Amino acid sequence: MKRTLIKHALAAVEPLEAITVAGWVRTRRDAKGFSFLELNDGSCLGSLQAIVDAGVPGYADMAHCITGASAEVSGRLVPSPAAGQKWELQAARLRLLGKSDPSYPLQKKGHTLEFLRTIGHLRPRSNLFGAIFRTRSRLAYAVHTFFQERDFVYVHTPIITTSDCEGAGEMFRVTTLKGNIDDQGQADFFGRPAYLTVSGQLEAETFACALSNVYTFGPTFRAENSNTARHAAEFWMIEPEMAFCDLEGDMDLAEEFVKALARHALEECAEDLALFGKFVDKGLHDRLQFVVERPFQRVSYAEAVDILRASGKTFEYPVEYGLNLQSEHERYLTEQHFHSPVTVFNYPREIKPFYMRLNDDGKTVTAMDVLVPGIGEVIGGSQREERLDALLENLSYHKLRPEDYWWYVDLRKYGTVPHAGFGLGFERLLMFLTGVGNIRDVVPFARTPGSAEF
Ligand code: 4AD
Ligand code: MG
Repeated sequence: MKRTLIKHALAAVEPLEAITVAGWVRTRRDAKGFSFLELNDGSCLGSLQAIVDAGVPGYADMAHCITGASAEVSGRLVPSPAAGQKWELQAARLRLLGKSDPSYPLQKKGHTLEFLRTIGHLRPRSNLFGAIFRTRSRLAYAVHTFFQERDFVYVHTPIITTSDCEGAGEMFRVTTLKGNIDDQGQADFFGRPAYLTVSGQLEAETFACALSNVYTFGPTFRAENSNTARHAAEFWMIEPEMAFCDLEGDMDLAEEFVKALARHALEECAEDLALFGKFVDKGLHDRLQFVVERPFQRVSYAEAVDILRASGKTFEYPVEYGLNLQSEHERYLTEQHFHSPVTVFNYPREIKPFYMRLNDDGKTVTAMDVLVPGIGEVIGGSQREERLDALLENLSYHKLRPEDYWWYVDLRKYGTVPHAGFGLGFERLLMFLTGVGNIRDVVPFARTPGSAEF
């Protein structure tokens, strides 16, 4: 018999004569002559209650239908007299699929997130994590819809690379060498040292300089030793790249993108969002509504520094022109000063990578970061240096060898065009849209310093 997802059973508009559902037992209650069995199959937040009479085939296994066990129930979907549920299933047959050992760790509600991380293989069965990962899936779909509707071409940039896009030296080496790998890598698999990518941007630029508008959406890796709630060693990034586009157009697209994803979450993930609003972040719904409706603020880096210096706040890290904005500064700007997402642009050249376009002042580059309340940076991007001379000069300024970037330099030799793009950290955005405070809880299996379980 065809199985009906519990999501569809719960959304039925009329009684259904003969359906079969399957799932994991959340609870069982026994009464005289029958049992209530609450099944959840993860297709939605809700569970379906089955009423199983003692005479029904399979009832003999009811004793094994304890929390965590899996079972299949066939029967009639009928209006439920119980409060809080529209439908219930009157079982005609019960089939135990898999017993559960009494040691099942998800017995009771109210486990801490820290504990649930230690059972990463089982936590998707909890209400919260089911909701998080359904939302993650829908938003991944929304990412593709957003770009495909705008005629962006999806490019699969390589995961193994030999160039450090961000120049921060936070790369994981990929090697087949045993023992000493500290040579120049000639003996290694690729004949030179290779790494897991930190960004698909440089490769995406080559495709933008052929197909105009492109995007990437894939895993990226950073060996940053920062054990914070916002950093993962493996995370997913979405990187659009647009030819014939400047910083202004880049900031416009970034804002439109964040708004579209917030709108999608509100409209398409309403049930799961309501759960986050109740248990994770009470202000979530209003905040997302605000994000969708209001324009983001825009300030230059220099203005941002002035605002921070005039704030009278004591920060842990110094605020000075020429220094990076730290997360506490980013959060002050969004949460206390602007009460809104903020796009900060035109950063000092010395704190940004080699590929960003130098402004006419000779001191700043066309960088932009989108900062949001509660998180800080969700997007980093820029207009790219399209002028050959300026790019070569910038490579040497950053002590990089042009021959290592020969193909990237070539793009400036053959029909160069102004172009711009950005990278959005998918997990950071998910944190923002769900209210979940730790990046480890929006990744199915988090990789962080000292931890790669599962
Ligand atoms: O600002 P980043 O380093 O920018 C780039 O990589 C550019 N190449 C993007 C581009 O212009 N195409 O990283 C982009 C975003 C950050 O804003 C942040 O949201 C996320 O990636 N990110 C991380 N997310 C989780 N864990 C980490 N360790 C992250 N590092 C960056
Ligand atoms: Mg950045």
